[in-house]
Amino acid sequence: KRHLISAGDLTKDDALLILDTAEELASVSERSIKKLPTLRGRTVVNLFFEDSTRTRISFEAAAKRLSADVINFSAKGSSVSKGESLKDTALTLEAMGADAVVIRHSASGAPHRLANWVHGSVVNAGDGTHEHPTQALLDAFSMRRRLGALEGRKITIVGDVLHSRVARSNVLLLGTLGADVTLVAPPTLMPVSVGTWPCEVSYDLDAVLPKSDVVMMLRVQKERMNAAYFPSEREYSRRYGLDRDRFAKMPDDAIVMHPGPMNRGMEIAAEVADSARSTIVEQVANGVTIRMAVLYLLLGGETT
Ligand code: CP
Repeated sequence: KRHLISAGDLTKDDALLILDTAEELASVSERSIKKLPTLRGRTVVNLFFEDSTRTRISFEAAAKRLSADVINFSAKGSSVSKGESLKDTALTLEAMGADAVVIRHSASGAPHRLANWVHGSVVNAGDGTHEHPTQALLDAFSMRRRLGALEGRKITIVGDVLHSRVARSNVLLLGTLGADVTLVAPPTLMPVSVGTWPCEVSYDLDAVLPKSDVVMMLRVQKERMNAAYFPSEREYSRRYGLDRDRFAKMPDDAIVMHPGPMNRGMEIAAEVADSARSTIVEQVANGVTIRMAVLYLLLGGETT
């Protein structure tokens, strides 16, 4: 495949190849080999129109560890503020020789459009409320490292599903990998289309927790919210927050995940986020490894 735009485009074999490649790259890093020559002479452009900490830095680290040249573009401070379009921005970057463009954009569908305008590979680093496929891959990788194969595992994804590209990509990828996913959200934060998604739906977190191998908490996206969706932070936290009492209802070997950034004290209590059964810091480290695997598989071995 030339691009990575949707987790739904990956077959089970594609997904397992990415996870297994990441596993091999992790074992190379664990042998203290920090840099591989694989993408020497290749250029990766990080095109970020929306804020990011983890995804932007980990794509940069991943490309550099594979010896690629990296150009970081942030819309703030660029000619986007003078009205330059996505297409003209993309063509300008391509003229500088991009072999891959990693794009984050507030508009759902922006990576798909970009793929029509550039010759290089396009990697979706999060588009609006649509998808975030490398997040789903690093989540699956983190689960597999803790729990083993994902077939038949019970994964519960909780929170602001309506605005979550992470939830959609995880539902698609985890379904492909044979896991059983249940989404839990307040009715106002569940997408109306959820009946067509390949997962179960519940509005009762306390009933689902004891049957979960993984509980993935989502960030409440206040910046995409209005009062009609979200009446009160206190009420949300009381009904859907993963606090100490709810954490105690999970099986002893179940793990807690969060893609970050977190609203500590709202969707997740600080002591739960920092517990030994939380994978939140591992998820960030695994993000570099997964993004190395994606860039390696998209760009490695080809000649320009
Ligand atoms: N999880 C995630 O996408 O985080 P950033 O927005 O910081 O990249």
